[in-house]
Amino acid sequence: MIYLKTPEQIEQMRPAADLVSRTLGEVARWIQPGVTTHRLDTIAREFIRDNGGKPACLGYGGFPGTLCIEVNETVVHGFPSTYTLREGDIVGIDTVVEKDGYMGDSCYTFAVGDIAPDVMDLLRTTKESLYVGIEACREGNRIGDIANAVQAYCEARRYTVVREMCGHGIGRDMHEDPEVPNYGRRGTGPVIRNGMVICIEPMINMGSRNIVIEQDGWTCRTRDRKPSAHYEHTVAVIGGKTDILTTFDYIKDVLKDKFI
Ligand code: MF3
Ligand code: CO
Repeated sequence: MIYLKTPEQIEQMRPAADLVSRTLGEVARWIQPGVTTHRLDTIAREFIRDNGGKPACLGYGGFPGTLCIEVNETVVHGFPSTYTLREGDIVGIDTVVEKDGYMGDSCYTFAVGDIAPDVMDLLRTTKESLYVGIEACREGNRIGDIANAVQAYCEARRYTVVREMCGHGIGRDMHEDPEVPNYGRRGTGPVIRNGMVICIEPMINMGSRNIVIEQDGWTCRTRDRKPSAHYEHTVAVIGGKTDILTTFDYIKDVLKDKFI
């Protein structure tokens, strides 16, 4: 069941979307060789609470952190740990914040120091595919149009699309209907209507699309252990226009000329 939001309700979702965006901006300041992912998690948890929010991932279905940490071959849902980031790593930071009764969800994959050019291309392409998906998110289109746009963009560049994990609706709950896959056929799936608020989140691999879930029951990685990238925005359809509620501008302010 898709919960369409009124324009007033969408306004009420902006603080959560802004806080999750600012949280990723704060984490961006600390991403460098030598930092543990556990440290990043603590920084995010404190930042969210200091700003009147609630870290929604923490304890969700037993998830042990504020941040999902996605180092190199990790696709989604990695745990914060004692792992120390190294030059050449990539790390996706995915988190959900609750504020004023609503959720905001965003993810950004960062380069740690200098990374290999082919990995940089994976990041760039995945981030571009997010905006290609958002472009297809228009009133009257269908969810399959978003899915197909992301898939076509990435596969044309010889990357592969993770199929087992999807984007989703969002509101008072972190995960609402509809599912928003990153692969599929045009003209299929639910019609995109005013009041829809969804998370679009391409998860794109350099090697094969296959994934495995680790023994911890959460950590999802590529089967071939090649890198995977992930970017996510929360977007709303209001008055026939698509509005990106989250923003990477805070990250841009931190990364400056390293922002891609
Ligand atoms: N953006 C992630 C998702 O939609 C956030 C997961 S939080 C967790 O799945 F608690 F489930 F890990
Ligand atoms: Co999400």
